[in-house]
Amino acid sequence: MSASPAESAELASGFAKRVLVTGGAGFIASHVILSLVENYPNYIIINLDKLDYCASLKNLETISNKQNYKFIKGDICEAPFVKHLFETEKIDIVLHFAAQTHVDLSFVRTLEFTYVNVYGTHVLVSAAHEARVEKFIYVSTDEVYGGSLDQEFDESSPKQPTNPYASSKAAAECFVQSYWERYKFPVVITRSSNVYGPHQYPEKVIPKFISLLQHNRKCCIHGSGLQKRNFLYATDVVEAFLTVLKNGKPGEIYNIGTNFEMSIMQLAKELIQLIKETSTESETENWVDFVNDRPSNDMRYPMKSEKMHGLGWRPKVPWKEGIKKTIEWYRENFHNWKNAEKALDPFPVTQPFIQ
Ligand SMILES: NC(=O)c1ccc[n+]([C@@H]2O[C@H](COP(=O)([O-])OP(=O)(O)OC[C@H]3O[C@@H](n4cnc5c(N)ncnc54)[C@H](O)[C@@H]3O)[C@@H](O)[C@H]2O)c1
Repeated sequence: MSASPAESAELASGFAKRVLVTGGAGFIASHVILSLVENYPNYIIINLDKLDYCASLKNLETISNKQNYKFIKGDICEAPFVKHLFETEKIDIVLHFAAQTHVDLSFVRTLEFTYVNVYGTHVLVSAAHEARVEKFIYVSTDEVYGGSLDQEFDESSPKQPTNPYASSKAAAECFVQSYWERYKFPVVITRSSNVYGPHQYPEKVIPKFISLLQHNRKCCIHGSGLQKRNFLYATDVVEAFLTVLKNGKPGEIYNIGTNFEMSIMQLAKELIQLIKETSTESETENWVDFVNDRPSNDMRYPMKSEKMHGLGWRPKVPWKEGIKKTIEWYRENFHNWKNAEKALDPFPVTQPFIQ
C-alpha cells in the first residue's frame, strides 16, 4: 500500500514513527516488515524475534542493511528486557505477531503455548501500555471461533477454541482487550484465515505438501482430509495489516478472511497435479498417504470479513497465481531453515517443554 498525500507530506517533513514488529523473522511478519521498510522509508521498523526453530533471517536479507530497519534478538516473555526495550526504543506502534503457531505441536508442548502466547502477550501489552504506545495490534486467528459447518462467524461470535494453540490465542485476546476496557489503551485485534506463501516454515500444510512432493515423498493427510480451510496469500494479508495499522479503530476486532476455501484432500490433489504433473486420478492418489488425525480437527472456519471490507480491504491474489509463486519459491529456498527436513514428519517429534 503506498502512502497517502497527507502521509507523504508527514514523511517529507522528517516525521518518523517507530514501529515494533514482534516475530518478524517468522512467516507473516517478515512479509509485513519487507513492505513497511520499502514503502515507509521514514518509519523505523524494529523487529523483535527470539529466532525460534521456525524463524529465518534469510526472509529479511533484502532489507537487512536498510537504515530504517533494526533487528533485536530477544524473548517477549522476558519482562525486564521488554520493559527496557520500550524505554530505550521509544516505540509508537506495536504489531504483535510473535507466537508459538503450530497446532500439532500445541498438543505436545501445550504449556509452552500458554507461556509464550498468553504470558508473553501479557508482558508485551503491559509494557506497551506503560510506555503509552499509540496503537497495539494483536494478531489473532480465526481458530479462536472453533469449527463450524455452516454458521458464518462475525467478530461478535463467541470464542470456542478446540485446541491448545487456539485456546492460547483466545486467552491472549482477553488480556489485550482488557487493556482497552480498563484503560482505553488503543488495542486492535485481528483474526485471520490461514495464510500461505513464501517464507513459511514447512511444518504447515501448504509448504509441507509442496516440500514433500519436491522431495519425491507423499503428502501426509491427517484423518479423512475432508476438513476445509480458507487460504489467503501473504501479500493480501500484508495489505490487510497495513489497512488496520492506518484505519483500524481502537478497541475493535477485525476478521481478515476470504471466501476461497478448499478441503485438505483437494489441496493435496492440486499440488500433486502441479508438481508431479499427474494426469489420472490413480496416478495422483499414489502421492497421498493417510495418517492418524489430530486429537481435534475443526471441519471449517466460515467467517465474514465485512468490517475489513468497510475499511477498503479485499483479497486480490487469485489462488492459481499465489500457489504458483509459492511452489517456485520452495524449489529454491527450502534450506532457508537449517532444520527444514524435520518439519516434513507427519507429526512433530519433540521433547516436552520445561520452563
Ligand atoms: N500462519 C497463519 O496462517 C496464521 C493465521 C492466522 C493468524 N496467525 C497468527 O499470526 C502470527 C504469525 O504467524 P506465523 O505463521 O507467521 O508464525 P511463525 O511461526 O512463522 O513465526 C512466529 C515467529 O515468532 C517468533 N517467536 C516465537 N516465540 C517468541 C518469543 N517468545 N519471543 C520472540 N519471538 C518469538 C519465532 O521465532 C518466529 O519468528 C501468529 O501470532 C499467529 O497466531 C497466523
